[in-house]
Amino acid sequence: MHKSIVLLPGDGIGPEVVESAKCILDAVASACDHSFDYATHAIGGAAIDQFNDPLPQETEAACKQADAVLLGAVGGPKWDQNPSHLRPEKGLLRIRKSLGLYANLRPVQGFPELLHASPLKYDVVNGSDLLIVRELTGGLYFGEPSERRDNGESVVDTLAYTREEMERIIETGFDAAMVRKKHLTSVDKANVLESSKMWREIVEEKAKDYPEVTVEHVLVDAAAMKLITNPTQFDVMVTENMFGDILSDEASVLTGSLGMLPSASLRKDGFGLYEPAHGSAPDIAGQGIANPLATMLSAAMLLRYSFDMDHEAQLIEQAVANTLSAGYHTADLHVKNGTKLGTKEITEKVIDFIEEESASD
Ligand code: NAD
Ligand code: IPM
Ligand code: MN
Repeated sequence: MHKSIVLLPGDGIGPEVVESAKCILDAVASACDHSFDYATHAIGGAAIDQFNDPLPQETEAACKQADAVLLGAVGGPKWDQNPSHLRPEKGLLRIRKSLGLYANLRPVQGFPELLHASPLKYDVVNGSDLLIVRELTGGLYFGEPSERRDNGESVVDTLAYTREEMERIIETGFDAAMVRKKHLTSVDKANVLESSKMWREIVEEKAKDYPEVTVEHVLVDAAAMKLITNPTQFDVMVTENMFGDILSDEASVLTGSLGMLPSASLRKDGFGLYEPAHGSAPDIAGQGIANPLATMLSAAMLLRYSFDMDHEAQLIEQAVANTLSAGYHTADLHVKNGTKLGTKEITEKVIDFIEEESASD
């Protein structure tokens, strides 16, 4: 099959991990007789430096033409003082909105070899396997007005949602639960926020369409605590944009590192942008030590969700698992007695396993 993929490397470690994931996609293409062509475009700080715009028009147009998009990360200290329309993060928010990518899926699955790499106790983490379904194009991130007032002495951000925006992401949560363990945890702050009260009403309405799914409501503060004290109680967690942002970084601790958490940002027709949950990690950028596994696993999600290539996705996931069980890891993973590798070296190991697996198919 022939497919075109737009690569948006972005800033910091973004280009390093996207290059790794591209090599992995190439290995899969040659093992399975596909051809992928790639077009690389600027986003974030790199695009500000080159075009004075965190999302240049040609980048946006290329994404709209592509079969799928793979993004690294944006942001860094160089642009932190910029006005908000010239911040790297604005480019990411604009592309999500412009492509209509309202559903962000963040699977949190521990690899057995990394259970000891988490700062949490083995018995707490063992058996955890959950999916965070995060609303991605509404809420506080996009509400208007958002501005300083009174000569900078006061400020307003707006948390706004329409019923339709809530319904479609809540449905995504239920649909995801139906193909997993049929348990949905809806996370809100309904004891305080009007938006959460409406959210909870909609979850209750939708629950009637999914009688097989058990539903529970958990307030976000308690959810944050339960996620690291008893994570095995969760299957699918569905929540609004900012709660999902915060909870997913927290959940990455279960996997041993933020560098392990992939994500898919989807719209209803299956079109998607795939990105690791982590950021541009300016503290380690350019050193060749970034963990590329989250981006590789995001590429696996790309194959599964956008190209319907489940076998190929599994090839990547299995190769990552094999790499870890062979004792290879990156510096962010606190594995005892393993072999610590850089970004390129661990990528080569994953490629070896892809070739080995496909030769034995
Ligand atoms: P971050 O996720 O970049 O880094 C947090 C910590 O995790 C750092 O210590 C970093 O070294 C480590 N880390 C993250 N990914 C890693 C990987 N793949 N391998 C090894 N270690 C990894 O978060 P931050 O430091 O709060 O933010 C840095 C910049 O990234 C900011 O400008 C922020 O806006 C941006 N950001 C972008 C995205 C995105 O593009 N999707 C996501 C989050 C943050
Ligand atoms: C993420 C990031 C982004 C978000 C930032 C960079 C805008 O933290 O993808 O999780 O908050 O959505
Ligand atoms: Mn985040």
